[in-house]
Amino acid sequence: MKMNTLEIRSRFPILSRKVGEKPLIYLDNTATSQTPIEVVQAIESGYTRYKANVHRGVHTISQEATDLMEECRRRVRAFINASSTEEVIFTRGTTEAINLVASSFGRLLPLNGEIILTVMEHHSNIVPWQLLQSVRPDLKIRVVDIDERGELRLDMYKDLFNDNTCMASFCHVSNVLGTINPVKEMIAFAHSRGVPVMIDGAQASPHLKVDVSDLDCDFYAFSAHKMYGPTGVGVLFGKKQLLSKMPPYQGGGEMIGHVSFSGTTFADLPFKFEAGTPDFVGIGAFAKALDFIEEVGLDKIEEHEIMLMSHTEERLREIPGLRIFGKAPHKSAVISFDVDGIHPYDIGMLLDKLGVAVRTGHHCAQPLMDRLGVPGTVRASFAVYNTIEEADAFIAALGRILPILRG
Ligand SMILES: Cc1ncc(COP(=O)(O)O)c(C=O)c1O
Repeated sequence: MKMNTLEIRSRFPILSRKVGEKPLIYLDNTATSQTPIEVVQAIESGYTRYKANVHRGVHTISQEATDLMEECRRRVRAFINASSTEEVIFTRGTTEAINLVASSFGRLLPLNGEIILTVMEHHSNIVPWQLLQSVRPDLKIRVVDIDERGELRLDMYKDLFNDNTCMASFCHVSNVLGTINPVKEMIAFAHSRGVPVMIDGAQASPHLKVDVSDLDCDFYAFSAHKMYGPTGVGVLFGKKQLLSKMPPYQGGGEMIGHVSFSGTTFADLPFKFEAGTPDFVGIGAFAKALDFIEEVGLDKIEEHEIMLMSHTEERLREIPGLRIFGKAPHKSAVISFDVDGIHPYDIGMLLDKLGVAVRTGHHCAQPLMDRLGVPGTVRASFAVYNTIEEADAFIAALGRILPILRG
């Protein structure tokens, strides 16, 4: 990468803070990644210079705020290689994007249709479909299993398709196992059966090049806060021909053409799906996060993170009683593990005392925990600013706490 890791770190103010007396070692990047100073500055200038409601005002500040938001939409379009900005809808995050598709596109699904999900989904890609079922009890959910390495069973995926299959929705990358799913092949298979596909890209977009045109997915969702960007901003990509047919998700300002008590018409894409005042300050700042990712380079980001993961996994395997979940050869920089006889929560608590931030629990993937037969795991996940020294400090911290926990 053009910048070395120290230069990158110097742009993230939070990385120099302490937790108690200890320097912060932040290994919870799968949950949210940290934010470089240029994104923070863009948020600050959004509030100190450009705070006026977007798309409504004729006055200068409103137009400037609108320009910042729409410039970000153009940046996102190019970043994911969508055909048009009409296909880029801003949401609060991946969760809202999937809820939008389930509640709007879901209403158009045929009677007695079957929706294919997988056992490795985040709750965000399970519960919206269950909510849809509560108003469309005719719809069925079918679930693809994983194998021993934590890869999707593609044989089962293909076997689940039948004449009633009307939708498939699955993650690009698992937030627990790190498995990178062969989504392009899975999408092509679904399309050969005439079935549209939604991809939950929350864990892919921060690490991998996402090209929605090449993938040919029908919908793709991701969150800015996992991509070095602000909280409360996400994106739904949708193919224009599908979005055009879908009813609005929410009603309110911004999404209308004309409102009267005898009937209301809706705005054109993408505004039809953006009811109410958006987080235009956050959206404007998200463009700076995309600049950061492009400046470093996604290939370099992935290479650095995979190096950290391989090093850490190698050292973890030396610890007796430690089990790593997720052994796919094609894997993102997420390590989920447990240690024989010790609750993950206790490991997380004691690591925190040593300044190491990891995630413990079910990671919003309870069906996957049930499948793995564990109540939860400890999860360490890397970003471009993590260092090999941090990985070693994490292993050393584990080496200190495990004997204490084992009594
Ligand atoms: C795979 C996956 N999907 C969806 C989400 C939900 O993202 P958000 O909370 O930003 O909407 C997450 C968050 O961790 C995730 O990892």
